[in-house]
Amino acid sequence: MKTLILYATKYGSAEKVAHQLATKLTGDVQTISIMKDAPPPLTEFDTVILGGSIYMGTIQKQLSNYVNDHVEELLEKRVGLYICAGEQDPEVKSKELVDSFPKSLYEHAIVKEVVGHEYHFDKMNLVEKLMLRMKGIKKSCSALSDERIDHTAHMMAETRRL
Ligand SMILES: Cc1cc2nc3c(=O)[nH]c(=O)nc-3n(C[C@H](O)[C@H](O)[C@H](O)COP(=O)(O)O)c2cc1C
Repeated sequence: MKTLILYATKYGSAEKVAHQLATKLTGDVQTISIMKDAPPPLTEFDTVILGGSIYMGTIQKQLSNYVNDHVEELLEKRVGLYICAGEQDPEVKSKELVDSFPKSLYEHAIVKEVVGHEYHFDKMNLVEKLMLRMKGIKKSCSALSDERIDHTAHMMAETRRL
């Protein structure tokens, strides 16, 4: 059986994480951007990792719509969840993670992680730049957490061996 990593991204952070996870997992792993490609049938997979990024407190609609439409099927799989999020307040960050997925799937998931964030001012539109500047964020940065990404991959691999 195979692993599907299905992700939503605007500027590439969640995609980068998907590809990093794919290199750390064993077996047949397929990475799919829900923004670009139609997800394959879930029947092909025993493991599904869902990842997205947070804008104005919420995960991409394309991902949440897909998850809501497939929640019963996803509950039959080994599931991992991750988000990219720049929020620094731990409580707000945890809430963003919890609120990104249906409660049943969140509770079912083997691992759920906030894996850090990136800011790409060169790619953002003016409104986005202004929004970030108002929060005191003025520069591009990459703050994805290798530790959290490794932990996600490790948890998915370990539970397969049990
Ligand atoms: C306009 C804008 C709004 C954002 N709003 C939030 C937010 O409400 N909460 C949060 O945790 N991160 C927020 N972020 C940070 C993003 O989640 C972060 O940049 C992430 O790495 C983007 O991932 P992507 O490149 O996969 O789209 C925001 C970023 C931008 C540019």
